[in-house]
Amino acid sequence: MLNFRHLAPTAIEFGAGKLEMLGELTAPHGGRVMLVTVPWEPALQPMFARAQASLEAARLSVVVYDQAVPNPTVESIDRGARIAQDEGVECVIGIGGGSTIDTAKGIAVAATHPGSVWDYMYFQPQQPTPLTLPIIAVTTTSGTGAHATRYAVITNSAIECKSAIAHDQVFPRAAIVDPELMLSLPAPLTASTAFDAFTHAFESYTNPGATPMTDLMTLEALRLLAENVETAVADGANLEARTNLAWADTLAGMSISNAGTTLPHAMGQPISGHFPHVAHGQSLAVVYPPFLRFTCEAAADKFTKVARLFEASVTDCGEAVEAIIAWMKRIGMYISLCDLNVPESGLGPVLKDCMDFPDVACNPRVPTEAEVMDLYREALTTANL
Ligand SMILES: [Fe+2]
Repeated sequence: MLNFRHLAPTAIEFGAGKLEMLGELTAPHGGRVMLVTVPWEPALQPMFARAQASLEAARLSVVVYDQAVPNPTVESIDRGARIAQDEGVECVIGIGGGSTIDTAKGIAVAATHPGSVWDYMYFQPQQPTPLTLPIIAVTTTSGTGAHATRYAVITNSAIECKSAIAHDQVFPRAAIVDPELMLSLPAPLTASTAFDAFTHAFESYTNPGATPMTDLMTLEALRLLAENVETAVADGANLEARTNLAWADTLAGMSISNAGTTLPHAMGQPISGHFPHVAHGQSLAVVYPPFLRFTCEAAADKFTKVARLFEASVTDCGEAVEAIIAWMKRIGMYISLCDLNVPESGLGPVLKDCMDFPDVACNPRVPTEAEVMDLYREALTTANL
């Protein structure tokens, strides 16, 4: 019997040219808005200027906070939150990749609650309340799904810990997914973010929390990724491939908010927490081959069904694992911890943080701590992968 909950409260405007709707979409949520971005380097300036112009055309007063950073930190978010308070900001807009959107989400919480944004991570006793400022997201990559999720991933540099807000209050009220904004994304970033979207769909599909709704969305996301990532990596200006990746990313983001991620996200997050130069997609790529081999037999039907989207002849787990690894090689995501300058001596604290993540227990095959350490060791060199 069907029995599930599905929550997807974000109003999504999807399609080429939709950036022009930013002012109109934002206006109902406040007259004074904060536009959160990375620094306005020349290549990004026209997009940010268009966003600002759209807001001003809707008669909104705009405060720009251009200090979003990759793997967003508590300091950058708390600083933005203080400015939002001082400036009387009523709505926070994130325009950029997942890090920028998560910065906007963190500011929306920290500007309206006592203490630091770190006090509202998923494991803390205090949680975001309806006081949280409305959030608008404009995504410029196709990977994190942040524009459609209830998560904001945040790093506490002082304790080298990467964790997350996980709360319905940080679902954006509205999101713009405009594939034209993604045309200039460089190939390595296209591959790394698309691989993140793949993991969201794959882990939601194989999660015990998967629902009939997430199964529909994740399988479609995986089909689109199998058919379009290589094209987008080879030809970044291909609008059709970019559009398909953006849709896959959106579907995968809505899926993780309802089904959740599994072991790879638990293993990957602390790698970036302790080694912040490692991008989220890279941290997942290094653990995927060992994870696939460790887990496949526990969910063989689903693993082989996914793998057949990448290689139609797959019949068993061994072939399924090889088909997915072959795809990772084709898109340049077959990498090891050594490739990323993460030494074996750094794995102890990474393992400890990994075991704290609830995602470990959501894996189709639940590993012991010793087994997770073995998987990290396998991830050290491509010779083992
Ligand atoms: Fe992710």
